[in-house]
Amino acid sequence: MTVRRVRGIEMAYEEAGSGVPVVLLHGFPFNRSLWREQIEVLKDTHRVVAPDLRGHGETEVATGPATMEEMARDVAALLDELRIERPVVGGLSMGGYVALAFHRLFPRRVRALLLADTRAQADTEEGKRAREETAQRALAEGMTAIADAMLPKLLAHTTHMKHPEAVERVREMILATKPEGAAAALRGMAERRDQTNYLANILQPTLVVVGSEDQLTPPADSEVMRREIRGSRLEVFEGAGHVSNVERPAEFNAALTKFLRDLQP
Ligand code: MLT
Repeated sequence: MTVRRVRGIEMAYEEAGSGVPVVLLHGFPFNRSLWREQIEVLKDTHRVVAPDLRGHGETEVATGPATMEEMARDVAALLDELRIERPVVGGLSMGGYVALAFHRLFPRRVRALLLADTRAQADTEEGKRAREETAQRALAEGMTAIADAMLPKLLAHTTHMKHPEAVERVREMILATKPEGAAAALRGMAERRDQTNYLANILQPTLVVVGSEDQLTPPADSEVMRREIRGSRLEVFEGAGHVSNVERPAEFNAALTKFLRDLQP
């Protein structure tokens, strides 16, 4: 793990390998360890960078809502520090919201996009209210309450039954998140704009992946992105939930490595 000071915060990140750079952005309320299996495989052929987004993992919590744009600007500043001009940008769930914001802010800095278990739509009014309730709950009760509430929906039924180690790993990531960081991200996600109409502006090769049992960003959301992003590909992992890279690492890696292999050098 390395730390760099960017935009006034200490930002932690993992870096491995060399070659075409790939930056991987984790979901909420996780951290860079989400990408363990992907880093392990990609580092043989690529330069992989996986930051802890603001308020998560070992990156500092900043004041105010952690908007998707703020997070995207943090990532751009980290990439500047690392002299990475044009990486493949991948994100899961909230990381996907940040990847889309990054594309909107810095379209020429994206070589290709991976959008995993995410969506382009904004929150509904009811969704925004639920975010605020969860933010207040995180601050009042801590992350155990958040983990207990989120875990049943995050992972597929089969994962809960057959892969207790995956459930435990996701729980540990949630418990490692600071309540203030989680609250800031929830408020930031609630503010995010609808990017559906923006998708037609994405001209880079794009891989969309989703678990067939993803309850939080269901396959229909991925279908919208596949339809609107010209030339994009959609891969559905049967029986996986919202954290498809942890629930189906082998299939996820196979889809991702094939996508990266097919990119123009
Ligand atoms: C995530 O996994 O990043 C979140 O569940 C996304 C969300 O709540 O919209």
